[in-house]
Amino acid sequence: MLGLKLPTDPRWVNIVEKNIEEILTDHAYCEQKATSTAISLIVSFPEYTELVTEMTALVKEEISHFKMVHDRIIAKGWVLGRDRKDEYVIQLIKFFPKGGSRTTQLVHRLLYAALIEARSCERFRLLSEELKDKELAEFYRNLMVSEANHYTMFLGFARQYGEREEVDEKWQQLLDFEAEIMKNLSKSETIHG
Ligand SMILES: [Fe+2]
Ligand SMILES: [Fe+2]
Repeated sequence: MLGLKLPTDPRWVNIVEKNIEEILTDHAYCEQKATSTAISLIVSFPEYTELVTEMTALVKEEISHFKMVHDRIIAKGWVLGRDRKDEYVIQLIKFFPKGGSRTTQLVHRLLYAALIEARSCERFRLLSEELKDKELAEFYRNLMVSEANHYTMFLGFARQYGEREEVDEKWQQLLDFEAEIMKNLSKSETIHG
């Protein structure tokens, strides 16, 4: 359903389980970045009214996810650490050439966002199925549903604002590229690592 071409190695969960503090820290910043992306899309593309409306709602939802993760960190007696570099995203956003028309740039940003949501959703599903801590597993199950909706929304906007056939072709190419990146990942206790 997510279209991803390479599933995460389930052994990634074993790495995560050994360091819950690290995954929660990284996860908190994923939610912060999702919030920032939504704000940035509003600022960059204000004339796309429907997008602005949906991004306004998304800002609230993603920052509420940040709060949920942060509250867990506090409950554990930990303090939120510094931001982690997201190597996955750094590599991913090199795929499309810079520049092009405004619409092209918007489509590229929407496709990146859709893919990041899709992979996050896949990782959350794995955590919800495999984590021994059943309470934490349930937490990830709920978030998985949210991120699946975001994936659908971003891909839908890309198809709505771009030229359908061209967008679908770009989406397939991006999925192939992402699968290549993932071959070297699944080795660290980060949401996309
Ligand atoms: Fe989120
Ligand atoms: Fe999201």
